[in-house]
Amino acid sequence: MNENIANIKVLITGGAGFIGSNLCEHFISKGYKVVCLDNLSTGFKSNLDEIINHPNFTYIEGDIRDLNTCKEAIAGCHYVLHQAAMGSVPRSINDPITTNEVNIDGFLNMLVAARDEGVKRFVYAASSSTYGDSKKLPKIEDKIGRPLSPYAITKYVNELYANVFAKTYGMQCIGLRYFNVFGKRQTPDGAYAAVIPLWVKSLINHQSPYINGDGYYSRDFTYIDNVIHANEQAMLQSTEEIYKQRETYYNIDVAKGERLSIDSSHFSEVFNVAFGGNTTLNQLFETLRSNLAKHDPAIADIDVVYRDKRPGDIPHSQASIFKAKTILDYNPQYSAEEGFEKACEWYFKNINK
Ligand SMILES: NC(=O)c1ccc[n+]([C@@H]2O[C@H](COP(=O)([O-])OP(=O)(O)OC[C@H]3O[C@@H](n4cnc5c(N)ncnc54)[C@H](O)[C@@H]3O)[C@@H](O)[C@H]2O)c1
Repeated sequence: MNENIANIKVLITGGAGFIGSNLCEHFISKGYKVVCLDNLSTGFKSNLDEIINHPNFTYIEGDIRDLNTCKEAIAGCHYVLHQAAMGSVPRSINDPITTNEVNIDGFLNMLVAARDEGVKRFVYAASSSTYGDSKKLPKIEDKIGRPLSPYAITKYVNELYANVFAKTYGMQCIGLRYFNVFGKRQTPDGAYAAVIPLWVKSLINHQSPYINGDGYYSRDFTYIDNVIHANEQAMLQSTEEIYKQRETYYNIDVAKGERLSIDSSHFSEVFNVAFGGNTTLNQLFETLRSNLAKHDPAIADIDVVYRDKRPGDIPHSQASIFKAKTILDYNPQYSAEEGFEKACEWYFKNINK
């Protein structure tokens, strides 16, 4: 094992959640020391079953809304991968206050704790929801619209805070705007379950899933392993390389007269994290059904039920991943289709019927 890695300590907030638990598992497998901070509001301690007793793993049950908890968790850490948040657009519409408290106050606590600890880099989960009502496709990082939900506001405010902390306190901050992430351990349960685990669970139980609208809306579904790779690149890409590649990236914009200023050793950047493809909901349903039917042929006969589209849903979302490719050397290995197959296999073995 690399001697350096064994001395690097990473704080993963929201580490008992879907994305966070996959990150914890990955960084433990690579030999890092990992601290997980989670209040189990939407995550599960069982997501950590395979690593909970690992000597390099520390689990702290606590809330990011409490600054002292954040400070205790971050003590001795070199990097932060901040995932803790109240996810889900509908949840934020039903309960904007809790979403705001966790996603903005909690985020600010984490930034303050990271500043005081002097961490090397603060990497955080941003969101494609920041593109709001912008109709431009593919989505490019510096062209956003107006937010369409309280959740989207909180994720945008995170980016604004990260910018100010980078400039004011000399921090290095990287926001990763995830696009519809899916994969093992994403929960199918609860009122705010994401579309893939929800549909997979319905199909495994021989029930028809619902499509809101006519099924022609499309998304850039992103397999979890691509997200792990993006976090690793964001954490480890050298400052020198980031500076060099930023020059290359923004020089392209210089031609269009849009160059941003680049100065000293601190920075704040956001990157789309996606595969860069698009899958309609109808295609998603067909693919999930045929993948699951390999395990249970009766699933092939289940049809989808169409109902009214949800207000506020944007028709299409597709990322340009050029910026992350150029600056972070992000190279996603799994297409959505490859990811669907892997996720279906996992759910078939693990889901409670
Ligand atoms: N899943 C996606 O498609 C997607 C897309 C864009 C952005 N994101 C962002 O990625 C991050 C992880 O999302 P996820 O899909 O894994 O969701 P998740 O709900 O599975 O994980 C979030 C974790 O944060 C924890 N948490 C919530 N509030 C907390 C608090 N106050 N203190 C400590 N821990 C707290 C939860 O218990 C949970 O374990 C979130 O910031 C989310 O907004 C996710």
